[in-house]
Amino acid sequence: MNAIKIAPSILSADFGRLAEEIAKVEHAGADYLHIDVMDGHFVPNITIGPPVVAALRSHSALIFDVHLMIEAPERFVPDFAEAGADILTVHAEATRHLDRTLRLIREKGMRAGVALNPATPLSIVEYVLPLVDQVLLMTVNPGFGGQRFLAEVVPKIANLRQLLDREDNRPDLEVDGGIGPETAAIAVAAGADVLVAGSAVFGAPDAAVAVRVLRTLAGRRQPDESDIVNKKD
Ligand code: DX5
Ligand code: ZN
Repeated sequence: MNAIKIAPSILSADFGRLAEEIAKVEHAGADYLHIDVMDGHFVPNITIGPPVVAALRSHSALIFDVHLMIEAPERFVPDFAEAGADILTVHAEATRHLDRTLRLIREKGMRAGVALNPATPLSIVEYVLPLVDQVLLMTVNPGFGGQRFLAEVVPKIANLRQLLDREDNRPDLEVDGGIGPETAAIAVAAGADVLVAGSAVFGAPDAAVAVRVLRTLAGRRQPDESDIVNKKD
């Protein structure tokens, strides 16, 4: 396990006041800013693209964790690098040449992530783990904020944890969708180390309290047998 990180998703922010909303979560102690990019093809929703990411860059020192929910994401890798993304995550289901796309992300100076929808098996990432800095498991079907956490994904989190702990580069395991006070501890207990939270942070009366609550719940995770078996150092 790496240290737990909290990544508020701006999908649930007020898009008319994005700079202020971002400052709010930065002061709240967030580790990453999770930016959801949707194209209306890979998912049934459209959000923002590189120009908005570039505009936000000058307003924030947070690590920009950009989650591309777009078809053929390889087309836009250079644009997101130019816009100031720090971590660029593509869906395995959306690119024909996952290996090539992940290498391109790193070539452009970003950390590379691969995301899987709830129904996509882990085997699709098995041979690219040395090329990634994080694996994102969707814990809802992508496209919208505020959906219910899918408990069916919990065993998949635990299985991925075991795979990642065998890798020398120790990629992070990010979970995305339906993460809040009730589900954060479940996800972390299963092995997640980056928690994306949209509505649980931006929908809360006080974002700083929401971030602190998530971090506290995540910290309550008890080590289990698999941690001991897989511990490397
Ligand atoms: C969903 C997005 C998520 C979303 C999470 O497709 O990838 O990042 O914003 O929102 P919550 O935390 O409200 O489920
Ligand atoms: Zn996301």
